[in-house]
Amino acid sequence: MGHATASVTARELRTDLDFALIGHQESWRSAADVLAVLRGAQRTQLPDDEIMEIFPWIPPRAVCNVEVASTTGAKARGLYIDCFIPPDRLDSEYVHDNIGRVRAAAACAIKAGARIVSLGGFSSILIEGNFNQLPGTADTMFTTGNTLTVAFIVQGIRKMCAMEGRGICRSTLLIVGATGDVGSGCARCLAPLAKRVVLCARNAKRLHTLAAELEADGTEVDIATSLEQFPLAADIVICAASLASPSLRLGRIAPEAIICDAGYPKNLNPGGDMPGARFFSGGLGQISGGLSFMPDFKGILNRHPFPDVAHGCLLEGMALALARRFEPFSQGRGFITRERVEEIETIAALHGIHLAPLYNAEGPLV
Ligand SMILES: NC(=O)c1ccc[n+]([C@@H]2O[C@H](COP(=O)([O-])OP(=O)(O)OC[C@H]3O[C@@H](n4cnc5c(N)ncnc54)[C@H](OP(=O)(O)O)[C@@H]3O)[C@@H](O)[C@H]2O)c1
Repeated sequence: MGHATASVTARELRTDLDFALIGHQESWRSAADVLAVLRGAQRTQLPDDEIMEIFPWIPPRAVCNVEVASTTGAKARGLYIDCFIPPDRLDSEYVHDNIGRVRAAAACAIKAGARIVSLGGFSSILIEGNFNQLPGTADTMFTTGNTLTVAFIVQGIRKMCAMEGRGICRSTLLIVGATGDVGSGCARCLAPLAKRVVLCARNAKRLHTLAAELEADGTEVDIATSLEQFPLAADIVICAASLASPSLRLGRIAPEAIICDAGYPKNLNPGGDMPGARFFSGGLGQISGGLSFMPDFKGILNRHPFPDVAHGCLLEGMALALARRFEPFSQGRGFITRERVEEIETIAALHGIHLAPLYNAEGPLV
């Protein structure tokens, strides 16, 4: 790597922090933008082939300071640590190397004295909700951030249904990735409100277990281990599968279905032919008090058409830091309940962290 990232030195990065955010880039475009900021404005942009060659050799490291402000006037200071997982190496073939990267990123957070660490995107998926895989310390707590993600997905579905004049109670809800941490949390919050629920994932045993839990609450549930198997056309779809790239093509959906893509990377294949569907990107929140990066990664680490928007998983760590609740709020797989979602929603709202305005690839939905 030589001196390619000389613009940010270890001395410029703060220590004794409230929080750290661990993440990775979902596209080569964003990976190139991160490298460009790290190299400094005075250097010319590297050609794409050179970026793809260099990137896998960059070890996980802190790339910028982050400051978040609450509407109460409180502030919290943190770091963003990138795992530098190459965007085309998220699949199982690279799992060993990628777990090593998450562990190294966690060690950076501990060394910097972060009290709460959010595990963004695939970083929590790689450790499968097992925090014992991370380096241990009594002073640094980890959270997957998935409870606040679920809260924002559910709020987004409610808002979109209201905007489109749809009743959840008259709808068939399909959740792809239903047995995952995010998917099962969404199922627990929304299934009791829907007319019928279709749970989709590959492992049938886990689907049966979740279906039995929801049925015991009185919900009508179908399961599908493939997208071709839907018994009914879904009116509302949540995509929350851990896919390494946007490869999902939905099967039977209603002509004007509401579709929330909450994946990071996105789940849905952009070539999918669903002309009447109403899409939005789910799981995003906005910080009313403001969010700043130093060096300035605005619009690079958070690539959204609105200011101060971030993924729910990262916002959960920031909300907990503002609330001085340094605890592993979201941990393990499949433990997200309605009560916990309401609790984190309340903590976030107290500090001015709310659902972000809805948008999709074509722009804002107002
Ligand atoms: N928007 C946000 O703020 C935000 C925050 C956190 C996470 N996320 C994203 O949300 C997604 C889910 O995260 P998670 O933590 O819930 O992951 P997880 O616990 O690993 O669950 C993944 C789910 O996807 C299913 N799945 C995997 N491959 C599939 C396929 N080909 N077809 C259908 N289902 C499949 C898994 O079940 P089987 O293995 O049985 O198929 C499981 O149900 C990821 O993309 C993650 O990056 C977004």
